[in-house]
Amino acid sequence: MKLYFVGAGPGDPDLITVKGAKLLAKADLVVYAGSLVNPVLLEDLEAELVDSNTINLEEITDTMLEALRAGKNVVRLHSGDPSLYGAILEQMKPLEEAGVEVEVVPGVSSIFAVSAALKTQLTLKDVSESLIITRPAGTTLEQDQDQIASLSRHGTTLAIFLGVDKIRQVVRSLEVPAETPVAVVYRASWPDEKIILGTLEDIAEKVEEAKIEKSAIILVGNVISRSGFRRSHLYKSR
Ligand SMILES: C[S@@+](CC[C@H](N)C(=O)[O-])C[C@H]1O[C@@H](n2cnc3c(N)ncnc32)[C@H](O)[C@@H]1O
Repeated sequence: MKLYFVGAGPGDPDLITVKGAKLLAKADLVVYAGSLVNPVLLEDLEAELVDSNTINLEEITDTMLEALRAGKNVVRLHSGDPSLYGAILEQMKPLEEAGVEVEVVPGVSSIFAVSAALKTQLTLKDVSESLIITRPAGTTLEQDQDQIASLSRHGTTLAIFLGVDKIRQVVRSLEVPAETPVAVVYRASWPDEKIILGTLEDIAEKVEEAKIEKSAIILVGNVISRSGFRRSHLYKSR
């Protein structure tokens, strides 16, 4: 019995890996993250489809286990890459205890689709050598676990998932200069992708005006301005 956790990519159906697409094509059961997986990926599949948003954790694992025991090919399809805010371990543990072997097939995380949409780099010589990925406090994260303030002090590129509905709270907690560029990218790589560019001072207002409340990443840092960098040592000089 082997279960595949597969990253579906950020939205554009062409951004799933070849391995992920092959596994989907021969699956008998696909349990997918309904809100963020592009339905186009599921359109021509022979498989039974279950939206994980409609059932609880135990029902998800029981459904997959039952299918595996019946000798079926099962794919658990997560948005982006399964390792980022995908909560895969809590699904894996009971399955492994039941004797299931698991394999994780990586996906293109939405943070990379955001960077592509902005046509920038997340790390850029003389601008930022590091990328921090985090999320703000909310329904599923306690206030004292919110690290945005202390992380922002590093002055590196900061990618904030799951937080656009709390844009004012996020902006208030950022300890960076007021002129720091901030981008909010909604549904990166989908046909209705939206890019909102601003600074700490005006981004919240712009995002509220655009009525963006979910499916977006808040990116903070000077890499957004695509300037101020120095040539790297990656390529030979003439
Ligand atoms: C539960 S997390 C899943 C993240 C996913 N595992 C990944 O690697 O992209 C959902 C959050 O990811 C971000 N997200 C997912 N898809 C996105 C997209 N296409 N564009 C912008 N943000 C996206 C949003 O912050 C959203 O609230």
